[in-house]
Amino acid sequence: MITTVTLNTAIDKLYIIDSLLPYEVMRVNNVNNTAGGKGLNVSRVAALAGEQVISTGFAGGYNGQLFESLITEPNITTAFTHIQGETRCCINVRDTAANRSTEFLEPGCSISKLELEQFTKDYIKSIQDSSVVTISGSMPKGIPVDFYKTLITIAKDCGKYVILDTSGQTLKEAIKAKPTMIKPNTDEIRQLLDINIDSLEQLIDAAQHLHDSGIAIVVVSLGKKGALVVCEEGIYEGITPDIPVVNTVGCGDSMVAGFAVGLSRGYTMEETIRFAVAISTANALTMETGSFRQKDLDWLLTQVEVRKLTDRKKAI
Ligand SMILES: Nc1ncnc2c1ncn2[C@@H]1O[C@H](COP(=O)(O)OP(=O)(O)OP(=O)(O)O)[C@@H](O)[C@H]1O
Ligand SMILES: [Mg+2]
Repeated sequence: MITTVTLNTAIDKLYIIDSLLPYEVMRVNNVNNTAGGKGLNVSRVAALAGEQVISTGFAGGYNGQLFESLITEPNITTAFTHIQGETRCCINVRDTAANRSTEFLEPGCSISKLELEQFTKDYIKSIQDSSVVTISGSMPKGIPVDFYKTLITIAKDCGKYVILDTSGQTLKEAIKAKPTMIKPNTDEIRQLLDINIDSLEQLIDAAQHLHDSGIAIVVVSLGKKGALVVCEEGIYEGITPDIPVVNTVGCGDSMVAGFAVGLSRGYTMEETIRFAVAISTANALTMETGSFRQKDLDWLLTQVEVRKLTDRKKAI
């Protein structure tokens, strides 16, 4: 079982319109509501892969009720902490003529101290039966910047694997609790270490540095170039084939889901990397965010190459 944490939840509203004109009345052709937030993408992909998932985070007001009702996947159990404020809406206006989007992101409500305490109690219950906990995305207002550190420590003390996928100061603070795995992309690792990375050598050095600091699995995702992994078993590249990309939104979340599934099933590191690279690439072949088709995954599992670069960087 996998528990996912999404503190900054939202109802994602997709408006399909012919052509967006500012300061005009716009008629929307189609509306599609989904339960949004990066951890929800992780939940959907892991559930679609066949795992049982518990989704946690905050939900509030009538929007919160709608948000929870939109999570209909049979493998996902919801265990959201209910708050006074309303769950926010994020609106993506899709202009079909230009084939471009304009996004409106509501700021969201603030979380009170009591609500945060309630979440912590709910979280302790929600992770009991899971072997893997994933923590994704940003935090709403009112939450101390080091809160993920608390969540990681609780889960690790209960013997769980913890995968962290966030950015900026929140990531800097959280890694002090040594999650089992982090999955920065190249921008996030640059920002985290405050360095320039211009070559594979430098990228390996950066990931190795984080691994040496006590993070067992450091995955740097490289978009269409796949991923670099530094872990106890060695240094690996996961290389993905060229594909006709449809939509890459949620690829990083799908990769987190892939690693969560691999860890929860006890796959070897090489099997886990292959699975995570394949499932995240499969997400890029579908229009939906945080989704994949089984036939794409099956094909990609035969196409992804997992290459071991070395046992230890120091041996190069
Ligand atoms: N254009 C692409 N072609 C093939 N595979 C891709 C492509 N983009 C992403 N992927 C797959 O998805 C993985 C994660 O992608 P990426 O590095 O873009 O994550 P991210 O920047 O964290 O994304 P997100 O926007 O979801 O946070 C990659 O390692 C790769 O396996
Ligand atoms: Mg990401």
